[in-house]
Amino acid sequence: MNFSKKIITWYKRNHRKLPWRETKKPYYILVSEFMLQQTKVSKRTIKYYLNFIKKFSSLEKLAQAEEKDVLKKWEGLGYYSRAKYLHSFAKKLINDKKYFPKKYQELIKYKGIGPYTGAAIASICFNEVVPAIDGNACRVFSRYFGVYDDITCTTTKNMFQTTVLKVMDFKYPGIFNQAIMDLGSILCTPKNPKCLLCPVKNSCFSIRNGTVGKLPVKKIKKFTKHRFFYYIFLYNHKNVCINKRLTEDIWKGLYDFPLIESNKNLSIHEIINKIWKKFRIIVSNSFVYQIEHKLTHQILSIRFLNCKILQDLRKNIFLKNFFFVPYNKIGEYPFPRPIILFLKHEKMI
Ligand code: ADE
Repeated sequence: MNFSKKIITWYKRNHRKLPWRETKKPYYILVSEFMLQQTKVSKRTIKYYLNFIKKFSSLEKLAQAEEKDVLKKWEGLGYYSRAKYLHSFAKKLINDKKYFPKKYQELIKYKGIGPYTGAAIASICFNEVVPAIDGNACRVFSRYFGVYDDITCTTTKNMFQTTVLKVMDFKYPGIFNQAIMDLGSILCTPKNPKCLLCPVKNSCFSIRNGTVGKLPVKKIKKFTKHRFFYYIFLYNHKNVCINKRLTEDIWKGLYDFPLIESNKNLSIHEIINKIWKKFRIIVSNSFVYQIEHKLTHQILSIRFLNCKILQDLRKNIFLKNFFFVPYNKIGEYPFPRPIILFLKHEKMI
C-alpha cells in the first residue's frame, strides 16, 4: 500500500467525528475552516461552529447580517479579523451575485482565505487535488520526509505544497487532507507522539533516524509586548458607557470601555490623575477586577475601575465619542474576552 492509501485507510477507522464533516456544502466548510484558522478543534470550537451556523444558516443570511451581530457570535474566540473577512466574503458573493468559487486559485483571491483555507475548501468541497498545509501538516511532513527547514517560513510551506502533491491521493484529496489533520492531532502530536500506532511508521524518516523529537524546526517566537490597560466601568442609574474600537489594533470592531493605556504598570494615583485629565471624571480609588490576558505576541495586564455618575453622561464632552447603552442591552454587543469576564463578575450578563 502506498502512503496515501495507508493514510486514508487509517482515517476511515480513526477519524474524529466533527459536525462539519457531515456535509460537503461549501458554506458549512467555509465557516468551519475560518473558525479553525489558528484554533484547535475542541468541544468549545464545535459549540461556536454550531451556534454560528444556527444563527447564520446560509451565505445569504450571513451577508444580510450586521457586523456587530457576526462578531457577537465570534465573541471569545479571538482573531476577530477572521469573522470580518468571512462576513465580507459572504457580502461580496451575494452583492455581486457570484457563484461560490470552486477553484483554489479563485478562492485565495479573497481576503482571509490563505493557501491552507483555500486548499481545504477546494479539496473537501470540490475534490481539487491541492494539499492543505497548516502547522499540523508541516509537523507530519517535516518528520516523515526529514525536513529541517523552519516551518514558520512561507518558503517551507510552499515547498511542502509541491512535495506533498506527489504523495497525495488524487481520487479523495479532501479525505487525504483531513486525514493528515487528524494524524497530526491524534498521533503525530508535538509532544509524546504515538509513533507505534502510526500507519506510515515503516517509511517515516524520523522514526528510522530517531529525529521525531528534533522535528519540526520552528524559529523562536517573536518578542512579546507587555501592555497595561486601565478600564473605566462608567455608569449611571440607566446606562453603561461603552466604546467601539476603531483603530488598527487588537479587537478592532469590538466594544470595550473608556480606557487608559500604558506601557508600564501605573500606581492608582497616576491612573486617577490620568483619568481625570482625559475624561474629567473621578473613579474608585481601588481596582474592582483584574485579569491577565495572553495573546499571540502580547500580554495584557488589565484592571478595572468603577465610576458611578449621577448626571446625564451625554453632557460630558470628554465622553462624546462613546455609546451609552441600557443595562439590558449590554449583552447584544460583542466584547473581547476580558470584558466579558468582567461583566460576568459584575453579574451584568
Ligand atoms: N483544522 C482545520 N480544518 C480542519 C478540519 N476540516 N477538520 C479538522 N481540523 C481542522
